[in-house]
Amino acid sequence: MEKTSKQLENKSLAIFNANDEFPRSGDQNFTFKQNPDLFYLSGIDQEQTILLLFPDCPNPLHREVLFLRQTNDYIKVWEGYKYTKEQAKSASGISSIYWLEDFDNILHSIVHYADNIYLNTNENDRYAHTVPHRDLRFIDHMRSKYPLHQYKRAAPIMRGLRAIKSEVEIALTRKACAITRDAFIRVLKFTKPGIKEYEIEAEIIHEFIRQGGTGHAYTPIIASGHNANILHYNDNNQICNAGDVILFDFGAEYANYNADMSRSIPVSGRFTSRQKEVYNAVLHVMKEATKLLVDGTVWNTYHEAVGEIMTEQLINLKLISTTDVKNQNVAYPAYKKYFMHGTSHHLGIDVHDFAGRYTPFADGNILTVEPGIYIPEEGLGIRLENNILITANGNIDLMADIPLEAAEIEDIMNS
Ligand code: GLY
Ligand code: MN
Ligand code: MN
Repeated sequence: MEKTSKQLENKSLAIFNANDEFPRSGDQNFTFKQNPDLFYLSGIDQEQTILLLFPDCPNPLHREVLFLRQTNDYIKVWEGYKYTKEQAKSASGISSIYWLEDFDNILHSIVHYADNIYLNTNENDRYAHTVPHRDLRFIDHMRSKYPLHQYKRAAPIMRGLRAIKSEVEIALTRKACAITRDAFIRVLKFTKPGIKEYEIEAEIIHEFIRQGGTGHAYTPIIASGHNANILHYNDNNQICNAGDVILFDFGAEYANYNADMSRSIPVSGRFTSRQKEVYNAVLHVMKEATKLLVDGTVWNTYHEAVGEIMTEQLINLKLISTTDVKNQNVAYPAYKKYFMHGTSHHLGIDVHDFAGRYTPFADGNILTVEPGIYIPEEGLGIRLENNILITANGNIDLMADIPLEAAEIEDIMNS
C-alpha cells in the first residue's frame, strides 16, 4: 500500500473496488473471486470491499481507509464469517475501517481536497472485457459526480508493483507449487491404461483441497493422445489408452496465489522411443530457456532466442527441414507449426499475471517456462512447464522437486 501511495502525484486519492459477484444460474452466483489489485493492496478477500488511499489527505484519519460490507446476525447465520472491523484492521494493517454505507459521505468530505483521482480497471493485456463490471461502472459514476477532477489510471502503478514479488508472495507461490507436486505424484501412481481423464482430475482436486488449496488455479487440462493437440482442451472425458501420452496442465491455487505446471506422461508407464525423443527435445528447450530467464532480459529477445533453440530441436526430430527454416516467414517462423504458443508468462495472483510486456525481466519476477511440441499427425503433444523465480543471484526453479526427467517419471509410475 505504501509503495502505491508513494507513486501517486501530490493531492491525489485512489480508489480500488472488489470484484462483482457474477451470476451463475437463476439461483446462484459463481464462487467469489477477489479483485487482484484490491487483494494485493489490502489482503482482504471479501466481496463489496472498497479501499481508499489519499496519502496527503488533510484529515489524517482518511489517508488509508477500508470500507466493508457490514455484517450482522442474519448474515452470520446464513453466510457465516465476514470481517468485523477489528479483524479487518489486523488483516489489512489499516486502522480506519468503516462500513460501506459510509463510503459516499466520507469520500465527499475529502474529495474536493484532491486534484487527481486514480481509478482502477483491468489493464492485463491478455484480457478483453465484454461484461460491464464494477470498475467500469464506478468510473462512470465518479466522472459524472465529480466531473472537474483529473482522472488517472492506477493500473500502470499496479503493473510495476505486482511484477516484483515480495517474500510473502514467493512463500505462497512455493506452497501452491508444493501442493501441485503432491497431486502430480499421486497422479503418477494412479494412472494406468483404461482410466478416464476425469478420474485423474478427481485425484488432483482431492489432493489440492486435502492440503488447504482453494482449488484449481485454472481449468485443468488432462489431455490424452490426440487431445494434447488441442491447446485449451479441458473436456477431460476420454479414456487414456495404452501407448498414448497424457499432457497435463494443472496447478493449485493457495491463498490467491497460483502454481502453473505442465507434465506429459506415458499412460502405460513407459515412453516409446519416439515419445522419449520428443520429450527430451522439449526438456532441452525448457532447460535452455530457463537459463535465459535472467535479470535484464527483454521479452522479445528471449522469445526469439527460445524460437531458435526450438528450431534446432524440430530439425533434429525431422519435423521441419533446414530448407523450411531458410524460406521461413520471419513473422511466422517454421517452428511455430509445432510450437505455436509463447514460452513464458508472469505468474502471481493472476495465472497470466499483470506485468509489463516491454519491461525487462527483473529480480523478484516469477515466470513460467513452458515449451511444447505438438504433432497432430502422430497423435502426440508434449508440454513441460515449471515456475521460475528470478533473483539477482540467478534464477530459482520453484518446481525443482517435481519429477521431470523421463526416467524419473517412469520409475515412479512403475514403483
Ligand atoms: N495453464 C495456462 C498456461 O500454461 O499458460
Ligand atoms: Mn500451464
Ligand atoms: Mn502457463
